[in-house]
Amino acid sequence: MQFTINGQRREADVDVRTTLLDLLREHLALTGSKKGCDHGQCGACTVLVNGRRINSCLTLAVMHQDDEITTIEGLGSPERLHSLQAAFVAHDGYQCGYCTPGQICSAVGMLGEVAAGWGSHVSADLSSPGLNTDEIAERMSGNLCRCAAYPNIRAAIAEVGADHASAAA
Ligand code: FES
Ligand code: FES
Repeated sequence: MQFTINGQRREADVDVRTTLLDLLREHLALTGSKKGCDHGQCGACTVLVNGRRINSCLTLAVMHQDDEITTIEGLGSPERLHSLQAAFVAHDGYQCGYCTPGQICSAVGMLGEVAAGWGSHVSADLSSPGLNTDEIAERMSGNLCRCAAYPNIRAAIAEVGADHASAAA
C-alpha cells in the first residue's frame, strides 16, 4: 500500500485485516492517534482522510490506497502549534490527554464542515459570531472525554471557530 501521510509518501505491507489505526500505530510508529474502544464509540482514533474526519479504527488500511491522511503529528509541532493545539493549551482543554489528538483532529474536520456549510440545520447562523457551545457539543459528540474536560475543550474550539468566522466575514 502507498499513502500520503502528513505530507510524506509512505509505503506499508499490511495484512488485509489491518485497520488504518493499527497501520498508523503499529506499522508507522505514529502513536499520536489513540486506541480507546476500537469500536467506533469514543473518537480517540480520529484522523483526517482527504480532509474529512473519520474513526481510523473503523476502516481498513487497504481502503486508503493513495489517500491523504493527516494525524495529530501532521497538524503542528511543539515549536509551531496548530491554532487548535495552541487553543487547547490556552484553555486547558485536557486532563490526561488521551482523547486530545482525536478531539483536535475532529475539531479541524468539524470546522472544515462548518466552512463548507454542512449541517446548517444545527444553527441558523453559522458564520457569525462563531459556533455556540451547544452547537460545538453536537458537532463534537463523537469524541468522548473520560476526564470530562468538555467545557474547556469547547472553549478552545469556540475560540478558533470565532477566528475562522471573523476571517470569513
Ligand atoms: Fe476508534 Fe474509539 S478507538 S472510536
Ligand atoms: Fe482525559 Fe479527555 S483529557 S480522556
